[in-house]
Amino acid sequence: MSVIELTINDRSVRSDVESRVHLGDFLRDTHNLTGTHLGCEHGVCGACTVLVDGEPVRSCITFAVACDQQKVRTIEGFDDDELMKRLRHAFSIHHGLQCGYCTPGMLITARDIARRFPDADEARIRLELSGNLCRCTGYMGIVAAIKSVLADLKANPIADAPAPRAVVSGATTSAPAFQTFAAAPASAPQAPVAASVASPDQPATLRKGWTAIDDSFVVPFALDKVWAFMGDLPSVTSCLPGAELVEHDGESVKGRIAIKFGPMSANFAGAARLERDDAAHCAVMRGAGQDNISRSRANGDVTYALTSEAGGNETRVAVTLEYMLQGPLAQFSRSGLVKDFVRRMIADFGARITAQLGGSAAPDAATAATSAKFNAGSLVWSVIWGRVKRLFGKGD
Ligand code: FES
Ligand code: FES
Repeated sequence: MSVIELTINDRSVRSDVESRVHLGDFLRDTHNLTGTHLGCEHGVCGACTVLVDGEPVRSCITFAVACDQQKVRTIEGFDDDELMKRLRHAFSIHHGLQCGYCTPGMLITARDIARRFPDADEARIRLELSGNLCRCTGYMGIVAAIKSVLADLKANPIADAPAPRAVVSGATTSAPAFQTFAAAPASAPQAPVAASVASPDQPATLRKGWTAIDDSFVVPFALDKVWAFMGDLPSVTSCLPGAELVEHDGESVKGRIAIKFGPMSANFAGAARLERDDAAHCAVMRGAGQDNISRSRANGDVTYALTSEAGGNETRVAVTLEYMLQGPLAQFSRSGLVKDFVRRMIADFGARITAQLGGSAAPDAATAATSAKFNAGSLVWSVIWGRVKRLFGKGD
């Protein structure tokens, strides 16, 4: 139990809360603020969206203890907000709701869109709204409502309008700069390669604030061949869905990786350093990056260890991914859905290595980018479908 102090809808609150309690449950169960709806509870549907310190967050995957000393605003806290009044009216006029389950999250997101994109066209509205799902599929009415409010704001501005929220310039078009981060500085304490290498039986080293995922895959080639391939950074990068190598010198790399996962859209640019232990056939890639869409930062270590199987005809690649996200995307980092997604990415990575070692032509940059986007989308659906099947006890 922890004691937290926060402000909810302009009211100071002091509460005992279990560390595992999510903000959405805390608001609904402890404070009777049932306007915050819980849908997927995986950070995907956006029904539970509230503001924390003025920024929309998914309360179903935000721990209440993480909101200590912060200002939370739920849909009940907008009664006197002129912009929200106009949005509510427009939703009603344009039939922007049917059952209303998604509506609190839709309204909070719509208000955020109005603050960030006063000149948004329909395409921009739909893009920004893509993190909120409506089970009744009332999107036409919702988009029409937002458009009408944006038009109305031009003709009738709000006198004490809420301050516009900054948009990261060029967020969707320009490449992020590299100089704003650095891969693991030489002075940072680092575990020796062999000590941090995972095996299928070995749990990942858990550092405070880091998430660890262990997995492995088997490729039907001898260990030496796989080990040589894994040291070839351009080839390895071409096997990573969404990844693009910008420059490398054998040990250090700079690159980008684009991720689209439900409401989460990120384009991390980063640098990493590869350390290999040839005798033990294990290696670690330590990297850091920054997403210029959300201004989130990531640190990550990818450790891999190779062992020979099937009399030397196959190689098992044990992978441990340890990462820490800071910034708006941090709320997704521990989501079970995201962990499943990463595991599917690792499996996809193994399949691509098998294809390349088997002689399939490496995709060119354009093809790789296209297929990466496609794969990222299909991976999301395969993860969600896998969960649905598990829920109903059906095998593959
Ligand atoms: S309930 Fe939180 S995103 Fe769906
Ligand atoms: S109005 Fe029913 S879920 Fe959106």
